[in-house]
Amino acid sequence: MAWKSIGIFDSGVGGLTVLREIMQALPQEDTLYFGDTARVPYGTKSPETVTRYAAEIASFLIKRDIKLLVVACNTASAVALPALKRQLSIPVVGVIEPGARRAVEVTRSGKIGVIGTAGTIRSSAYTRAIKRLNPDAVVLTRACPLFVPLAEEGWTDNQIARLTAQEYLRELKESKVDTLVLGCTHYPLLKALIADVMGPGVTLVDSAAETARTVATILAEKKLLRPPAENGNHSYYVSDIPAGFVRVGNRFLGGKLGDVFQVSLDEEEDNN
Ligand code: DGL
Repeated sequence: MAWKSIGIFDSGVGGLTVLREIMQALPQEDTLYFGDTARVPYGTKSPETVTRYAAEIASFLIKRDIKLLVVACNTASAVALPALKRQLSIPVVGVIEPGARRAVEVTRSGKIGVIGTAGTIRSSAYTRAIKRLNPDAVVLTRACPLFVPLAEEGWTDNQIARLTAQEYLRELKESKVDTLVLGCTHYPLLKALIADVMGPGVTLVDSAAETARTVATILAEKKLLRPPAENGNHSYYVSDIPAGFVRVGNRFLGGKLGDVFQVSLDEEEDNN
């Protein structure tokens, strides 16, 4: 069982920020990444649609015999995690709970900001997770949809990105949150800019890094880690032609992306 891969999926390329952290924390592990590039973005879609997409992808990955599933997409984690946990018999790790836990640990004032896609913010999943851990916490949220195309375009520190960040973050800054959760796969790429706009008193919480720690803890507890001397292999599947994913993905992974294969989830279903 320990020799199986870790499955990980996102609406597209953004989840590679989570994969990057998992590769760093657990270099001995094989991973299988699925990016739903034909149907991205998830952040603007209804919970019902995102939950259906997530179930289809989970079934694709389960057929490839994974030992743990990481839902790297914040939007999918926010709306589809309970359904996936009910459906699957392997551990399922989302990005919301790890990010929320870290935010509660690091905040001094108890005033926490959360930014994410429209779908993630509308779901209130981060607010609920934070409040479960600390009922006294004050949680302020803001959807920042334009951060996604900016990160994909590589515009992470130009005037347009800065003005966008200033506009989106103004109220959170004025409300004096001391902690800000980057609740979207793409936001770690804008981390330096967001930190600069929020100012030195604000701690940024990277859900991607926290999720990798959670994956490591769960695999260790379940005795499912591969021996540390191993060198993991990484496979990539996408639902649209790979060109765009390869271009942007190499930037997200620092040039370390391997071969990327296009697959059709419909054909998978038809073959059953
Ligand atoms: N992966 C999505 C998330 O983390 C961002 C991109 C999208 O909207 O699909 O919420």
